[in-house]
Amino acid sequence: MSTEKTKVGVVGCGAISGTYFDRMINAFDILGVAACSDLDMDRARAKAEEFGVPKPCTTEELLADPDIAVVVNLTTPDAHASVSLAALDAGKSAYNEKPFAVTREDGRKLLETAKANGLLVGGAPDTFMGGGFQTCRKLIDDGAIGEPVAATAFMMCHGHESWHPNPEFYYKPGGGPMFDMGPYYLTALVSLIGPVRRVTGSTRITFPERTITKNGTKIAVEVPTHVAGVMDFANGAIGTIVTSFDVWGANLPCIEIYGTEATLAVPHPNGFGGTVRLRRAGDDDWREAPLTHGYLENFRGLGVADMAYALRSGRPHRAGGDLAYHVLDIMHAFEDASRQGAHVELESTCGRPAPLPVGLIEGVLDE
Ligand SMILES: NC(=O)c1ccc[n+]([C@@H]2O[C@H](COP(=O)([O-])OP(=O)(O)OC[C@H]3O[C@@H](n4cnc5c(N)ncnc54)[C@H](O)[C@@H]3O)[C@@H](O)[C@H]2O)c1
Repeated sequence: MSTEKTKVGVVGCGAISGTYFDRMINAFDILGVAACSDLDMDRARAKAEEFGVPKPCTTEELLADPDIAVVVNLTTPDAHASVSLAALDAGKSAYNEKPFAVTREDGRKLLETAKANGLLVGGAPDTFMGGGFQTCRKLIDDGAIGEPVAATAFMMCHGHESWHPNPEFYYKPGGGPMFDMGPYYLTALVSLIGPVRRVTGSTRITFPERTITKNGTKIAVEVPTHVAGVMDFANGAIGTIVTSFDVWGANLPCIEIYGTEATLAVPHPNGFGGTVRLRRAGDDDWREAPLTHGYLENFRGLGVADMAYALRSGRPHRAGGDLAYHVLDIMHAFEDASRQGAHVELESTCGRPAPLPVGLIEGVLDE
């Protein structure tokens, strides 16, 4: 295999970009960050200086750079589709932060354009590739819980306007607790249990206006901030998910999967490591399961590295477009179901991404 780095350009140099720059530059030999851009050039210059990125530039200049093979799109959700479509049109594979796109139509355009141009598209989250989730995946695949019967997933908080520097996007289309945090939970569930066949749900907006703590600015809330959903997985398991920005406190688990032989308590899906616990039939308490895989720290960018390996070898990448689009479709279907008062059959589906092999050296992926 070539030892030349796959050159990456980062579009969007905001709050989350520092973690990506750090990991892509320092953790994965296969990746080299060649350029970065932002609508706000000061942000692009600041990140370039902090992380030693050779070329802070406009997005147009970044997309015109023939050395760049992958665009890592860390813009706000409203720009995910337009920036990545421009990248795909410029002959570059695209890796989006979540959600994959705001509308299903834009999500489908991304998939179609990538396919037509012979490029890869996909995106966050890649936390399901971390050691906590890969341990869960191995336990399920090895039969430790028997047949999956059901799953629960809960994400309850009071929103992000108290800490985020620019929190408006959390209350606009593409934001809200489901489109913001749902991708972690749903990507984890689909990678562990498989695709979803149909959903139903109920949604509401509890506080039509939010106030940004640091400056008192008001935000008009345009998306549901409490979403309760039920999912029928293709294999017959039944999932329940609640995501909320309307709740001051809760004592619910992040994700549990209930099988015919045991229950699996899954770590927080916004992290890479965590504690995995099993309670088998007949056990009188939970037992901690030893983690079988690496990548336990915040390894955002793991999915980009996996995409770079896939580009070289031709194998599928794990944080792929079909998975990200299926998750987008599920999230929309909760809102459709709530409006229609009915179950919604999903048109999309996807395979489960390949598990990571046991014994990988951190910083290197399988070819
Ligand atoms: N902040 C977090 O903790 C966090 C964690 C995980 C994922 N994310 C996701 O990462 C993405 C970015 O979040 P953030 O918190 O970094 O937001 P942010 O607002 O801090 O940064 C986004 C940046 O993108 C730039 N941008 C917007 N549209 C652009 C365009 N068309 N072209 C070029 N630049 C553009 C903005 O100027 C801004 O600097 C979101 O999709 C979010 O869901 C954020």
